[in-house]
Amino acid sequence: MASATVSPILLTLSALFLLFTSTALAQTAPAPAPPGPLNFTGILEKNGQYTYFLRLLAESQVGSQIQNQLNSTTEGFTVFAPTDNAFNNLKSGTINSLDEQKKVQLVLYHVLPKYYSLNDLQFVSNPVRTQATGQDGRVYGLNFTGQNNQINVSTGVVETQINNALTQQKPLAIYQVDKVLLPAEFFEAKSPAEAPSPATKKSSSGSNSNSTASTADEPASADNSGSSGRNMGLGLVVGLALACMGALS
Ligand SMILES: *[C@@H]1O[C@H](CO)[C@@H](O)[C@H](O)[C@H]1NC(C)=O
Ligand SMILES: *[C@@H]1O[C@H](CO)[C@@H](O)[C@H](O)[C@H]1NC(C)=O
Ligand SMILES: *[C@@H]1O[C@H](CO)[C@@H](O)[C@H](O)[C@H]1NC(C)=O
Ligand SMILES: *[C@@H]1O[C@H](CO)[C@@H](O)[C@H](O)[C@H]1NC(C)=O
Ligand SMILES: *[C@@H]1O[C@H](CO)[C@@H](O)[C@H](O)[C@H]1NC(C)=O
Repeated sequence: MASATVSPILLTLSALFLLFTSTALAQTAPAPAPPGPLNFTGILEKNGQYTYFLRLLAESQVGSQIQNQLNSTTEGFTVFAPTDNAFNNLKSGTINSLDEQKKVQLVLYHVLPKYYSLNDLQFVSNPVRTQATGQDGRVYGLNFTGQNNQINVSTGVVETQINNALTQQKPLAIYQVDKVLLPAEFFEAKSPAEAPSPATKKSSSGSNSNSTASTADEPASADNSGSSGRNMGLGLVVGLALACMGALS
């Protein structure tokens, strides 16, 4: 008698349990499917105002390196993408006066080997090592300050706001910056305050300028003594890339 009344309840309970677990599974399972493979340079290309940075990413092969590592990285990447305006506002010759190794370093200086949301960046401990670190045994760091998602990034010679996130989803964050992040390390031998004056464009710098004004033309390249075979290979690669660019333009 008793068992006949109990079993329907057990059935109902187990049915409810099954229902519960299956819906719970259904809710958690499909979540982590990403909308498609991440395309690092594709994101920048789509935006249309990063042609100069994209060129440097291609020449230095840093773009393809990041793309290749996006699949396997557990830490992710954070990239600061200077606009074409940012490059146009540099004192003329600033980029061209860099040798190939320094150009690669300049690009790597815009990359952090870890994913940071804007919120994360408020709480990092300064300085944060960039990917340029270690190429010549020095720490190439960036400092972040700010609050309420209003973050500034500083190199020591350049400070600018991080305003626009092109993408902000682990493993990749790309933030727009309106200035090229020039490493203080490039200018250490000179007066740091004088180094990149964004206001000056093509003209001037010659006649009426004072002794200190022209020093920024030639960044400190005296410390380039460490010429390993790797550097030469890198130079060759960049040289080839440059040659291709030249042929295209
Ligand atoms: C990324 O997108 C660009 C065009 O925006 C395309 O040329 C390139 O092949 C894509 N790369 C990958 C890895 O999908
Ligand atoms: C990265 O993953 C995507 C999809 O998961 C795959 O199509 C692509 O070949 C992978 N790329 C590399 C470099 O492993
Ligand atoms: C960020 O930099 C701007 C100038 O570019 C300055 O006005 C502002 O106070 C800075 N903010 C912080 C939090 O450092
Ligand atoms: C970056 O922050 C560290 C730690 O606060 C400080 O020692 C260093 O001087 C800062 N560098 C620049 C370039 O602001
Ligand atoms: C050079 O600059 C110094 C101060 O920076 C100034 O006193 C001097 O008059 C300047 N000379 C010329 C030729 O402009």
